[in-house]
Amino acid sequence: MLPGLTKYTPEQLDETALTPYRAKFTCINGAAGDALDRRRLTRGQVPTQSHHYTSQYFHPWGRPMLSSCDRAPRDRYSRTCVLILDKYRGDGRRLIAERLQAFRSVIRQLEDIYNVRPFPHQTAQSLTELYLLVRALRPRTIFELGAGSRSSTVALAAASATLWKCRIYSLDICPTPFKGFADQYFPALEFGPVRDIQQNAVEFLIPGAWKFPLLMLYDAHDDDLPNSVISSHAITRWLPRLSGQVVAIHDCSVFPADYAGTFASPYTEAVHFSGRKVVGFAETAPLISWMNERRVDFCRPGDELQELGFDGHDSSLIYFRVP
Ligand SMILES: C[S@@+](CC[C@H](N)C(=O)[O-])C[C@H]1O[C@@H](n2cnc3c(N)ncnc32)[C@H](O)[C@@H]1O
Repeated sequence: MLPGLTKYTPEQLDETALTPYRAKFTCINGAAGDALDRRRLTRGQVPTQSHHYTSQYFHPWGRPMLSSCDRAPRDRYSRTCVLILDKYRGDGRRLIAERLQAFRSVIRQLEDIYNVRPFPHQTAQSLTELYLLVRALRPRTIFELGAGSRSSTVALAAASATLWKCRIYSLDICPTPFKGFADQYFPALEFGPVRDIQQNAVEFLIPGAWKFPLLMLYDAHDDDLPNSVISSHAITRWLPRLSGQVVAIHDCSVFPADYAGTFASPYTEAVHFSGRKVVGFAETAPLISWMNERRVDFCRPGDELQELGFDGHDSSLIYFRVP
């Protein structure tokens, strides 16, 4: 348990699932977290149940989220890059099973650290997918946008530790320093180097010195900070510098385009030219529109895991290669 957090009984946790997670995290991050509390949902303020695909779960950052069981069935669409499938066909299944098991322990540990039960978007599968993407792509640089609870950093840095010269740059308005976090909570795990960058994303430019291949994890949302529309900054300033590199976007659920359900705010949805509907936070629509204009296809690691014989449903990650 981190200092300042309350330990809840299982019954209380059901209630506290509706408590703004960010408020708890502010205890760790300090006052700067308050800036993000602007839109936080308070207990009892359940997201509109406008459709049964909206679940009662809350995103760890105070946003309602879709439950994993509501995901689309495996899609059957064309995919231009299938990094995980290509790398882990055959013998790789053993490593995947072993990683899923290891990340289940990591998730349990994170739940203990933050004392939050519902972690539906940061599942063992989600962390495994990040780990596998890194191992498949073998990047020299990982750009993590949104350090948050540091769960994604754990997965990325565990994978980068197996690579030669891979460095993670983790950008957040107020990152919990990864080294101290890892030393305290995961002393037995080996991690690659992580450099935290404390900055508003919309003021950040990709340094020319960053080495390629590069993997970007996009996991921070438009307008979480006032006047900070990260997606337009990403489209105008980052993506043009990332030609040929891979970008993975978190918190995206994928449905068939003709899926009739509607999604309560703050979800946005956009139909990708491949015939899939992507539902996520505010950045989803502009990013999918950017992909449509350039005919950029995307992959869903959950589908790749399913093709490898695993249960791929617990996934909210998509990724694409920048043209
Ligand atoms: C969804 S959380 C990231 C979750 C994280 N990847 C994890 O595994 O726990 C989003 C993060 O983005 C950060 N963030 C939001 N808007 C930002 C901005 N404009 N600049 C920098 N960081 C921002 C927040 O502080 C928050 O930590």
